[in-house]
Amino acid sequence: MSTILVIGASRGIGLEFVRQYRGEWERVFATARDLPGLRRIEQLGGAELRLDVTDPDGFAAVRERLAGEKLDLAIYVAGVYALGDAGTLPAPDEFDRVMRTNVLGAMQALVSFAPLVEAAHGRFAFITSEMGRIGGVASSHGWIYRASKAALNMAVASAQPDYAQATLVAINPGWVRTDLGGPGAPLQVEQSVAAMRLTLAGLTRRHRGAFLNYDGRRYKTW
Ligand SMILES: NC(=O)c1ccc[n+]([C@@H]2O[C@H](COP(=O)([O-])OP(=O)(O)OC[C@H]3O[C@@H](n4cnc5c(N)ncnc54)[C@H](OP(=O)(O)O)[C@@H]3O)[C@@H](O)[C@H]2O)c1
Repeated sequence: MSTILVIGASRGIGLEFVRQYRGEWERVFATARDLPGLRRIEQLGGAELRLDVTDPDGFAAVRERLAGEKLDLAIYVAGVYALGDAGTLPAPDEFDRVMRTNVLGAMQALVSFAPLVEAAHGRFAFITSEMGRIGGVASSHGWIYRASKAALNMAVASAQPDYAQATLVAINPGWVRTDLGGPGAPLQVEQSVAAMRLTLAGLTRRHRGAFLNYDGRRYKTW
């Protein structure tokens, strides 16, 4: 049995990770920031932990709850989107909301939990987006979000040498039918998560610091 931590699991992709890993009887810790989210995790048999990823103090409390654990797999899923393109001034509040959730939260999760992943020689995946790719980008649609996911990718790749016993990857889930992805997305959440689970199960040390698609394809450019 593996021990898994899912950060940002109240709904969408994160909750589906909990559902699928619990379906295989894995031991799953999962975080949400409010009671309804925590209940949904509990109903799936996950051990629920309260965490708002924009609250730096919250990480210390969760780290304390996990003291002594070895994590075979941790997944940072929490994320938010913002509308707007490079033709409009970014609203500072929106900028802060997106960057604090998608980048600062991920960096805090990395420093807080990567040692527990190293203890198991495990894997730490960060859910990024193809919208964060710089190579070949053709539009500024979702400008702040794009910048946040590009920053997340750098945070993950650059941290890899500091955590030599863990495999850190950034992984794109595809365009997925969730509250964030919207009803027009081609992938169902079950499909995306099932494919990412396969990809994560197949990670080896040669994937350290990689940027991957949900289907396991490795991006050649960031
Ligand atoms: N869906 C797609 O097509 C797609 C494509 C590329 C990348 N992604 C990425 O995949 C990840 C999951 O997205 P999704 O599609 O599952 O979206 P979603 O259904 O909107 O879920 C977003 C999750 O992030 C959590 N979250 C947001 N802010 C948080 C905070 N401050 N503290 C704790 N949790 C917070 C939400 O919790 P609450 O319920 O408390 O708000 C929710 O569990 C995101 O990182 C997103 O950028 C999604």
